[in-house]
Amino acid sequence: MSKIPFTKATDCFTLSNGVKIPCLGYGTWQTPNGGVTEKCVVNAINAGYRHIDTAFIYGNEQEVGSGIRLSGAARSDIFLTTKHWVTERGYEKTLAAVETSLKNLGTDYIDLYLIHWPCVQKISEDWEKINADTWRGFERAYKDGKIRAIGVSNFQKKHIDALIKYAEVKPMVNQLEFHPGYTQLENVRAMQEMGVLTEAWSPMGSGAVLKDERLASLAAKYGVSVSQLCVRFALQENVLPLPKSTNENRMAQNMKVFDFEISEEDISELESFPLLGFSGFMPEDAPADALAE
Ligand code: A2P
Repeated sequence: MSKIPFTKATDCFTLSNGVKIPCLGYGTWQTPNGGVTEKCVVNAINAGYRHIDTAFIYGNEQEVGSGIRLSGAARSDIFLTTKHWVTERGYEKTLAAVETSLKNLGTDYIDLYLIHWPCVQKISEDWEKINADTWRGFERAYKDGKIRAIGVSNFQKKHIDALIKYAEVKPMVNQLEFHPGYTQLENVRAMQEMGVLTEAWSPMGSGAVLKDERLASLAAKYGVSVSQLCVRFALQENVLPLPKSTNENRMAQNMKVFDFEISEEDISELESFPLLGFSGFMPEDAPADALAE
């Protein structure tokens, strides 16, 4: 699947409910407050990004919201994603969490809201029910028009299969760690078969893959940077990349991925790359703070 149907970052994937989502987004994980996130969001929008990804736990929802307003872009021109944190599991708490994020972001709707991490067996024997209760809150807020699309993050197939058993509305997205050296390709393919769009967090392994010599020589072959190779790799896998950079030039560079095409052979090489840049985060074995109730 080398060819992509996109020629620019504002071209869209269509989610299973018909909502359009710009095919490349700007990530804000680990982008600090104190004006940094606000400025980055303004710069990203000026560079042409129309899709911004944040999360309650990043602590920067307020600055993401103020950055969008400061940029002068119409709210309706920006696709805004945020995520539900693990401490807010359950129906009522989820409804309250939606209100908190709306308030933080200073908006009256969220384009895409994701369960940040699944509840898993290791946390509770009732993990399936806990995720289902949280999901009912998602469905309520979705039906009330507070959220345009709902999904999950860091779910393995078994978690999503369990959720779907109870769901009225199927998740539209699963956001996963995805980059050369850690593609979770089996999970990505399963999502594609289910009609769930995969998004890539840390499409360049939080920067860890950028110095790899094999990747550097592959990128040089196409006359691009390793970052651009990684972003393009995600797109050619039908995965929506969410690169992040606090630097204006690099933000712009990461969007210039529509004028080259990675060959089938090189895609295969990238798919089978040895483990590199893996964060260590797994749903069943994530750090305690990600799994805490
Ligand atoms: P910086 O913010 O200084 O640009 P990921 O998106 O996989 O999490 O990777 C983000 C990391 O990669 C950040 O440390 C970022 O640093 C760095 N980065 C992002 N884009 C580029 C680029 N085009 N060239 C070099 N480093 C980059």
